[in-house]
Amino acid sequence: MAPLLLLLPALLLLAAADAFPASCSNATCGVHDIHYPFRLDSASDCGYPGLVLVCENNSTLILPVKSHRYRVFSIDYGRHTVSVFDADADDGEYPVCPRLHVNLTIDYASSWLQPAPSDSNITFLYNCKKNASWSSAVELIGCQADGDKRSYVLPDGVATGAEAYEYECEEVVVAPVLGVHKARMVPGSPAPANGSVGVGDVVRAGFELMYNAHSPQCDGCERSGGWCGYRHDQMDADGMELTCFCDSGPAADRCGEGPSATPVIRLAGENYTVQSISYDSRTIILTDSDVLIGGSCPVVHHDVSFDSVWLHNTSYNDNLTFHFGCYSRDPVPPAFDKYQIDPAGDGDGASFVFTPDNHDRAQEQDLAVHCNDAVSVPVRSDVLMATNQNNFTRGGYGDVLKQGFELAWSMNNEQDG
Ligand SMILES: *[C@@H]1O[C@H](CO)[C@@H](O)[C@H](O)[C@H]1NC(C)=O
Ligand SMILES: *[C@@H]1O[C@H](CO)[C@@H](O)[C@H](O)[C@H]1NC(C)=O
Ligand SMILES: *[C@@H]1O[C@H](CO)[C@@H](O)[C@H](O)[C@H]1NC(C)=O
Ligand SMILES: *[C@@H]1O[C@H](CO)[C@@H](O)[C@H](O)[C@H]1NC(C)=O
Ligand SMILES: *[C@@H]1O[C@H](CO)[C@@H](O)[C@H](O)[C@H]1NC(C)=O
Ligand SMILES: *[C@@H]1O[C@H](CO)[C@@H](O)[C@H](O)[C@H]1NC(C)=O
Ligand SMILES: *[C@@H]1O[C@H](CO)[C@@H](O)[C@H](O)[C@H]1NC(C)=O
Ligand SMILES: *[C@@H]1O[C@H](CO)[C@@H](O)[C@H](O)[C@H]1NC(C)=O
Ligand SMILES: *[C@@H]1O[C@H](CO)[C@@H](O)[C@H](O)[C@H]1NC(C)=O
Ligand SMILES: *[C@@H]1O[C@H](CO)[C@@H](O)[C@H](O)[C@H]1NC(C)=O
Ligand SMILES: *[C@@H]1O[C@H](CO)[C@@H](O)[C@H](O)[C@H]1NC(C)=O
Repeated sequence: MAPLLLLLPALLLLAAADAFPASCSNATCGVHDIHYPFRLDSASDCGYPGLVLVCENNSTLILPVKSHRYRVFSIDYGRHTVSVFDADADDGEYPVCPRLHVNLTIDYASSWLQPAPSDSNITFLYNCKKNASWSSAVELIGCQADGDKRSYVLPDGVATGAEAYEYECEEVVVAPVLGVHKARMVPGSPAPANGSVGVGDVVRAGFELMYNAHSPQCDGCERSGGWCGYRHDQMDADGMELTCFCDSGPAADRCGEGPSATPVIRLAGENYTVQSISYDSRTIILTDSDVLIGGSCPVVHHDVSFDSVWLHNTSYNDNLTFHFGCYSRDPVPPAFDKYQIDPAGDGDGASFVFTPDNHDRAQEQDLAVHCNDAVSVPVRSDVLMATNQNNFTRGGYGDVLKQGFELAWSMNNEQDG
């Protein structure tokens, strides 16, 4: 057997997995079992960002929505709903008159929660100075009121600020309740004669919120066998960073990516990520690992060099040449605008990229004398040809770099024996 075939696996280094516990444990709070995609704030980092629960007194499960407390009855993981009620309604002093203070406000664009179709609104008008005269308003008996002030509930859920203003009410709150409960509260129409129709019970029976069981951010992570969650951003003390928790440790987007599972080959002290290996054609496609972490405008720091006894450049490559630190004192002549790229490279001055296009040669040499550093790296000719070079200097070159270059390895029979 050719020695290279033994040697090659030895060159493939697996970077050590980050020693981080898979922190996706289930939790309990009183009778509640809490598991993914919900999480208990104190127990786990694993769960969707908007689905963080708080356990009070070891028994009361709270879902904070815009920092207002909603008590959780139950979570139906199959139907993707959570049943909650406004914790203000639990104030035991006025069981007949639930004194609410806050409208449920969900920021639909960014929220992981939304009202369920089973919900229906009722409106409370608290401490109105004038008697409400419209027919659907039911006076609430049992509310604490000073003087002549009265409170009302509007089962049809329609109330505008204008009505509240007209009747000089202190506060208006629109509360979601379950439609089936509301129907029982108002059997038929018009409304029953007295206000003690169990409005408190209806509010305390709560409503449902649907949660997003799929998100573009988390789908890829979950499909790769990971758990989506949040981790404190190491760069920013207050920031939270969406993270994919994998058996091998946390990854950015999905499991199997990132340093914990990517084969890396080291050539002349530099790391190259292995994109693919073809044992038939004895070729390997490598990408400079710096390029993969460099964002949309990556920087190459070095030429590609390798032990030419075993590895060979192939005719499937072309060179891209970068010039860094150019014209650090003088303005860049307009003739070079079309080669200029974003990253500054290591140090001051402008940066440029040249393709192997022969027409560019003379210009490139003119430019090079004004630059501190040049790096020439192989890229795949087929990729270069297929690339739209119109946006090349706006970062398009990065897409070419990321697809790597090809090297062939030899089966050198002279080395046998
Ligand atoms: C958490 O609970 C769910 C549902 O009961 C279960 O499928 C899962 O295996 C549990 N996870 C752990 C880590 O115990
Ligand atoms: C938790 O317990 C404290 C006192 O022990 C009490 O004041 C508070 O209302 C309780 N909270 C809940 C949600 O039961
Ligand atoms: C909560 O319950 C756990 C176990 O049931 C117990 O170990 C812990 O001390 C309790 N905490 C409080 C604050 O009661
Ligand atoms: C309840 O009221 C809110 C606004 O307060 C509204 O966005 C929502 O659509 C209403 N729900 C129903 C079922 O009418
Ligand atoms: C408001 O209605 C109550 C009966 O519900 C009545 O006693 C009171 O006089 C009315 N107040 C006014 C200003 O009409
Ligand atoms: C609740 O919503 C209603 C209708 O949108 C509004 O008139 C009222 O002021 C809101 N109440 C609170 C406490 O924000
Ligand atoms: C209100 O009416 C219901 C029946 O419609 C009755 O059961 C209840 O006792 C009444 N409450 C008051 C405070 O009158
Ligand atoms: C190559 O990767 C190893 C392990 O991931 C790392 O310790 C080393 O610093 C890297 N070398 C270079 C030149 O980036
Ligand atoms: C690899 O070979 C190609 C085609 O022969 C050539 O254009 C390129 O400059 C070579 N690259 C290196 C790094 O030698
Ligand atoms: C491509 O770049 C390498 C250095 O990385 C250099 O040795 C080779 O001569 C270059 N090929 C051409 C055609 O410029
Ligand atoms: C360049 O344009 C192609 C499509 O023509 C697009 O796929 C690619 O993302 C663009 N690259 C950059 C860095 O804008």
